[in-house]
Amino acid sequence: MATRSKKTQWVEKKLLLFVLLWMAGSAGCFVPAANAKDVFANDGLHDPQGPSFNELQRPDAAFAGFPVDTVGNKVRWVQALRDGMITPRTNIVPDTKIKILDMDLILGNTGDNAYVRFPHRAHTEWLDCANCHPDPFKEKFGTSGIKMGAILEGKFCGKCHGAVAFPLTECARCHSVKPDTFRGKFGVQPVEKH
Ligand code: HEC
Ligand code: HEC
Ligand code: HEC
Repeated sequence: MATRSKKTQWVEKKLLLFVLLWMAGSAGCFVPAANAKDVFANDGLHDPQGPSFNELQRPDAAFAGFPVDTVGNKVRWVQALRDGMITPRTNIVPDTKIKILDMDLILGNTGDNAYVRFPHRAHTEWLDCANCHPDPFKEKFGTSGIKMGAILEGKFCGKCHGAVAFPLTECARCHSVKPDTFRGKFGVQPVEKH
C-alpha cells in the first residue's frame, strides 16, 4: 500500500470536519414526527401557504418500497428511476428539448484513490446540460480543474452531491474504477450497454 500523500491527508482532514458538521446538521432529522403538516410547516423550507402543501406526505410513507440507500434521504434514486418506480416530469415549458446523453468519462487525477467514473446518462435523465455546462464544467475533458478540496467546499460535483444527490462521504460511488484493472484511456469511454 502506498503511503498517503500530503494532499490526501489534507483532503481526509477536511472530510472529517465535513462529517462532523454533517452529523451536527442532521441531528434534527431524527425527531419522531406526528404528521407531515406539523413537521413541514415550521422547517423553513416548505411554504404552508403553497397550493399543494396539504398533499405533502411524510418521507417514510412516500418512500416506502423504494430501493433502499444507507445515506442521504435513504433512497437509491437512479435505481428507482431504472426500475420505473418514478417517472419525473421532464419539462414545465412544453417546447423544452430533452437530451439524454449516454457518455461516461473516467477521470484519473485521484491521488491514491480509485479513478472516478462520471456517467452522463444518470445525470441527464434528471438534469439539463445547462446545469453543468459551461459552469462548473467546460465541455472538454480535463479542462475544468476539478479538485477534491473544492468539491468538499461545495464546488463542481459538490454543488449537488451532499445537497440534492448522494453525499460526499460515499467516496467509492464516484471513485469506482480500480486503477489496477483499468486498461483504457482517461476521458470519454466507449458506450456500454445499460
Ligand atoms: C451533472 C453535470 C453534467 C451534466 C448535466 C452534463 N455534463 Fe457534460 N460533462 C460533465 C463533466 C464533469 C465533464 C468533464 C469536464 C472536465 O473533464 O473538465 C463533461 C464533459 C462533456 C463533454 C466533453 C467530452 C470530451 O470529449 O472532451 C461533452 C461534449 C459534454 N460533456 C456534453 C454534454 C451534453 C450534450 C450534456 C447534456 C445532454 C451534458 N454534457 C450534461 C458534466 C455534466
Ligand atoms: C447539477 C447536479 C449534479 C452535479 C454537478 C453532479 N451530480 Fe452526480 N448526481 C446528481 C443527481 C441528481 C444524481 C442522482 C441522484 C443520486 O444518485 O443521489 C447523481 C448521481 C450520480 C452518480 C450515481 C450514478 C448511479 O448509477 O447510481 C454518480 C457516480 C455521480 N452522480 C457522480 C458525479 C461526479 C463524479 C460529479 C462531478 C464530476 C457529479 N456527479 C456532479 C447530480 C449532480
Ligand atoms: C461526487 C463524486 C465524488 C465523491 C463522492 C468523492 N470524490 Fe474524490 N474526486 C472526485 C473527482 C471528480 C475528482 C477529480 C478527478 C480528476 O480531476 O481527474 C476527485 C479527486 C480526488 C482526489 C485527488 C486529489 C485532489 O485534490 O483532487 C482525492 C485524494 C479524492 N478525490 C479523495 C476522495 C475521498 C477520500 C472521498 C470520500 C471521502 C472522495 N474523494 C469522494 C469526485 C468525488
